[in-house]
Amino acid sequence: MPEDVVTFVHLSDTHLGSTYDAEYYGTKPAVELERVVAAINALPEAPDFVVHTGDICGGAEVDSQGTKEGYQLARQIVSTLKVPFYAVAGNHDSVPLIRRFLPPGLHQPLVSDRTRLAYTFRARFLTGVILDAREGPGPAGFLPDDQLEALDALLSMERGPVCIFLHFPFLPIGVGWVDELAVKNGEALQSLLGRHHGRVRGSFFGHIHSPLFVTTDGLLAVSAPSPAIHFRLHPGMLFATIPGSHPKAWHVTLSNKATRILSLAPNC
Ligand SMILES: [Fe+2]
Repeated sequence: MPEDVVTFVHLSDTHLGSTYDAEYYGTKPAVELERVVAAINALPEAPDFVVHTGDICGGAEVDSQGTKEGYQLARQIVSTLKVPFYAVAGNHDSVPLIRRFLPPGLHQPLVSDRTRLAYTFRARFLTGVILDAREGPGPAGFLPDDQLEALDALLSMERGPVCIFLHFPFLPIGVGWVDELAVKNGEALQSLLGRHHGRVRGSFFGHIHSPLFVTTDGLLAVSAPSPAIHFRLHPGMLFATIPGSHPKAWHVTLSNKATRILSLAPNC
């Protein structure tokens, strides 16, 4: 791998239940996660890291949280990866269980609040920032002030490229059900990033179970699809569909000049 390129795989919203055969909208998330992990391990060049933007477990029932057994199962599958794995906490996730079963690779805490899974890590020339925008059991997010302040300070000091990772969308996209699930104070993050214009190469999120690419004020925002179940993006409409030909995860390559995003094979 050339030194001036960093690559990673972005996946999201696997929603593992407590057992291998547990179902989610008629699919088996553990089987889907195994396929994605196998596809990552089969890439011609190993990525620098894998990032999961949340809802690793839980959600099979409305508002259900991930269980200890679910995270044990996730660890069993994810531990076959040959590269560091970085987790974001989604609204169905448990931070203590992520810390116990899926501890992030080498990292630095972003804030002192241990109840939050907010941290930074390095991959070659890239700084990754994991934000924790969970607000509670509800489906919308909220970014606490301490994380915004820490991100502001980091962007003031850090000169290399930065990517941010969070569970919730934070830019309004004009699709009602998506905007209702977004970070409620997303404009605070947007204006912060605007003050550091050009410093962030991309923001990567999940939660909406749909592939989406948005640019606002030059900022690239990308959501990963869910390997388990796909929600269609239509204004005012929400459809769950059985997994088929939709992509399962993104394979992202950052160079000094470009950001390239490829789909992992649908049949992975
Ligand atoms: Fe979610």
